[in-house]
Amino acid sequence: MKTLLFSVFLILPFIVSAQTPWVAPPDSKEIINPFTDNEQAIERGSEIFDLLCSVCHGETGMGDGVTLEYLNPKPANLTSKKVQSQTAGEIYWKVTTGRPPMQSYVNVLSVNETWQVISFIKTFGVE
Ligand code: HEC
Repeated sequence: MKTLLFSVFLILPFIVSAQTPWVAPPDSKEIINPFTDNEQAIERGSEIFDLLCSVCHGETGMGDGVTLEYLNPKPANLTSKKVQSQTAGEIYWKVTTGRPPMQSYVNVLSVNETWQVISFIKTFGVE
């Protein structure tokens, strides 16, 4: 019995720290990116990404930024199917909402800048 109790306490922190999947609300799917396929927006988005996002998500968005080993959960791989299969609207919702350790960017980026960085992220999915 003692051993059982002990093992429960041992695994408890892992269960508690396991995060639920991050799912954007269904209506965010419909939010439209005004800059789709706009070269200038993608270029500007790339600069914003280098400045603010690459430290965690890595220069190519693979989730391998320099902060990787210090973060829990780990930065998302933005090139993954899991991320790329989401609409720009769902990504917009996540970037403006945030979830620790990622902050919300609603007071950091303007609406246009947010869409520019999302336009850039969307290019990761293009082969
Ligand atoms: C401090 C590190 C950090 C920074 C800086 C950061 N992120 Fe994140 N990001 C994360 C982490 C960690 C997650 C995973 C959160 C989770 O799953 O709960 C994440 C998740 C995401 C997701 C959701 C991926 C999914 O699973 O659907 C998107 C989109 C995203 N980040 C975009 C950005 C953009 C754009 C920027 C820059 C404007 C940025 N992030 C800056 C750490 C960071």
